[in-house]
Amino acid sequence: MFPWIMKFIPGPHKTVLVKWEKLQLFIARVIENHRRDWNPDKPRDFIDAYLNEIEKHADNPTSSFNDENLIVSTLDLFFAGTETTSTTLRWGLLFMALYPEIQEKVQAEIDTVIGRSQPPSMAARESMPYTNAVIHEVQRMGNIIPLNVPREVTVDTTLAGYHLPKGTIILTNLTALHRDPTEWATPDTFNPQHFLENGQFKKREAFLPFSIGKRACLGEQLAKTELFIFFTSLLQKFTFKPPHNEKLTLKSRIGITISPASHREQKGKQEESACPPLKARRLLRSEGTNRIE
Ligand code: HEM
Repeated sequence: MFPWIMKFIPGPHKTVLVKWEKLQLFIARVIENHRRDWNPDKPRDFIDAYLNEIEKHADNPTSSFNDENLIVSTLDLFFAGTETTSTTLRWGLLFMALYPEIQEKVQAEIDTVIGRSQPPSMAARESMPYTNAVIHEVQRMGNIIPLNVPREVTVDTTLAGYHLPKGTIILTNLTALHRDPTEWATPDTFNPQHFLENGQFKKREAFLPFSIGKRACLGEQLAKTELFIFFTSLLQKFTFKPPHNEKLTLKSRIGITISPASHREQKGKQEESACPPLKARRLLRSEGTNRIE
């Protein structure tokens, strides 16, 4: 009710507030750099285009186009666009390591359609129904935003006979769709056949990881492109397997999104505290087998 009060209360949330301020300062500097060589006729990116809007509405004191909103909107794009896509990819690699026969089929399709030397492009997706189905199934099972993003009713509303007074918080249950036993042949098991019919990719209405309607994910197309390009590029070059004598599970961790729990979490802090690039190199060596002869 009084979010500003949190500033004055001690506790771990203070770290978040400090980091939030640092991020805002960082973006403010990026915006200043943009302003230096900004050309309104040639917007290079989101910040340039937003600066145009600030300029256009400069005489309107009630305009929402201002520096503060530019900073927060830029950060929104980073928050909404990074963790979501990377977490989905992590689920993808985990499912590939758990289902080697499915991974082999994806790699066979990559070898046939793209080959091993040229980098994957979106043009190939049309001819890769199996890989496309696997990525969709990763999103269905990963179900990274199970209750969608909370929304608030802005005016008194009646929905399906229920009265929703202004200010009501709405959570939509995407899990109910993604695990609906009347929609999916094996709702709780990874099964790319859910998105295939006679060997062709099949769209499913009960699949809504990006939500639907006016406020649906605005990054959907970008996310789909990233998922296809990163997933195929990784499987073109590597085969993902559990490390020797280690068992992988589908246990998850609750955070901003639902992400795979590290199978090494129980093994003590040593791995966790390793310097991140070193840790990444070690994991790649032990979990990804190079496919290049
Ligand atoms: C696998 C990746 C992603 C998933 C599963 C995902 C999912 C979602 C969901 C469920 C929502 C809430 C929609 C609603 O309330 O009805 C949302 C909103 C949003 N997403 Fe994504 N997203 C992904 C990637 C991205 C990317 C790459 C970007 C941009 C760079 C992005 C930007 C946004 C923004 C700005 C919103 C808020 C839209 C609004 O309030 O009108 N997302 N996303």
